[in-house]
Amino acid sequence: MQVGLRVVLGVTGSIAAYKAVEVARLLKKRGADVQAMLTDGASHFVTALTFEAVTGRPARRTVWGMSGEDLRKIEHVEDAYAADRILIAPASANFITRYTHGFADDALTATLLSTSAPVWVAPAMESNMWRHPATQANVATLQGRGVRFLGPTTGDLASGRTGDGRMWAPERIVDAVLGDGAAQRTDLEGLTILVTAGPTWEPIDPVRVLTNRSTGAMGLAIADRAAERGARVRVVLGPTHLAPSVPSVALTRVESAVDMLAAAEAAADDIDVLIATAAVSDYRPADPRPRKLKRSDPAAATLALAENPDILATLSARLRPRSASVTIVGFAAETDDVVRHAQAKLSRKGCDVVIANRVGPDRGFGAGETEVLAITASAPPVPFGPADKAGVADFVLDQVLELRRQRSGS
Ligand SMILES: Cc1cc2nc3c(=O)[nH]c(=O)nc-3n(C[C@H](O)[C@H](O)[C@H](O)COP(=O)(O)O)c2cc1C
Repeated sequence: MQVGLRVVLGVTGSIAAYKAVEVARLLKKRGADVQAMLTDGASHFVTALTFEAVTGRPARRTVWGMSGEDLRKIEHVEDAYAADRILIAPASANFITRYTHGFADDALTATLLSTSAPVWVAPAMESNMWRHPATQANVATLQGRGVRFLGPTTGDLASGRTGDGRMWAPERIVDAVLGDGAAQRTDLEGLTILVTAGPTWEPIDPVRVLTNRSTGAMGLAIADRAAERGARVRVVLGPTHLAPSVPSVALTRVESAVDMLAAAEAAADDIDVLIATAAVSDYRPADPRPRKLKRSDPAAATLALAENPDILATLSARLRPRSASVTIVGFAAETDDVVRHAQAKLSRKGCDVVIANRVGPDRGFGAGETEVLAITASAPPVPFGPADKAGVADFVLDQVLELRRQRSGS
């Protein structure tokens, strides 16, 4: 990166504002000259003084500042022209709305309206705020004007819930803005990728289901990163409150394993890569009741089960003869003997690679950081992590590219 690049860092009113201090520090460490701007909301969470100490420049707040020897320089106009890049991290829902509508009532929005520098926005907010049609419409408008969005990702939120709306990690944001990081890769262009994700619901009666603890977060992180890296992505998603963050990801929602298989088969025709992360129930109630089962019903104490189709094995048996170049990735969430189980899955289900991780009450499903092992037939297991789900997603996609390179001999 060019040393001395002037980066305006906008900080807005999100609980993630404390992470903006780290963003400022990393930008400085990588040689940028950082001008911080805090909105009113931001100053409820962090102080201007903190950014002044880290960046060595007065942090801007209002639109009223004049500077220069004769006090004839309007600060936000000078800042707008001096900026090489502008980053807003974190970006609150309120800020995104104000920016979309061309407000100019504080230093940050006035600078944005006066600049021709490229702009990156790293949103951070509650899932429902992020998914609200008003926010999504604003994001689409800004994207249409060339503003680049970094995330958000799925993970633990300040509210204690898990979902989409979490700000990208500071390192990843800084990589993207300084232009030498993974976030700007387009190495999956030309590939069509099908991802299965989430749990399944197997009906017992109209109100009860057999299911598991999967949230779909890992599969959705893979789908989002694959789309960001240039792939055409389809997701078949079991019941979960999560959704893809990248608008170009094509989503089909399903409930049961049987429905998931049908939707995945319909979407698998022309794919180059299958990534099967879904936690599919092995069994379903053999005889789902049309009416709610009563406690007094003798059938309530024992459930007869029927085996579900094996989605990964069925798809891989269909895809292999049709296309020798298809890459198939399985996931193995195990509580014990992880490597042995994953190796068995590799051959049994016709996978090129199995991504194995240990799950249990303390780790795995929905948890923030994950550690995985990539298991192939030809090499020793490759460990990765602990990392957030976006980091693991990049690792999985890198494994896919490496396998495809090896196979094509390039
Ligand atoms: C504790 C707390 C945390 C908040 N976190 C967020 C958040 O992460 N994202 C967001 O968009 N708004 C969040 N808000 C609401 C914003 O701070 C509020 O909409 C504010 O007006 C935003 O100001 P801004 O325009 O300066 O961003 C939070 C509010 C509180 C009290």
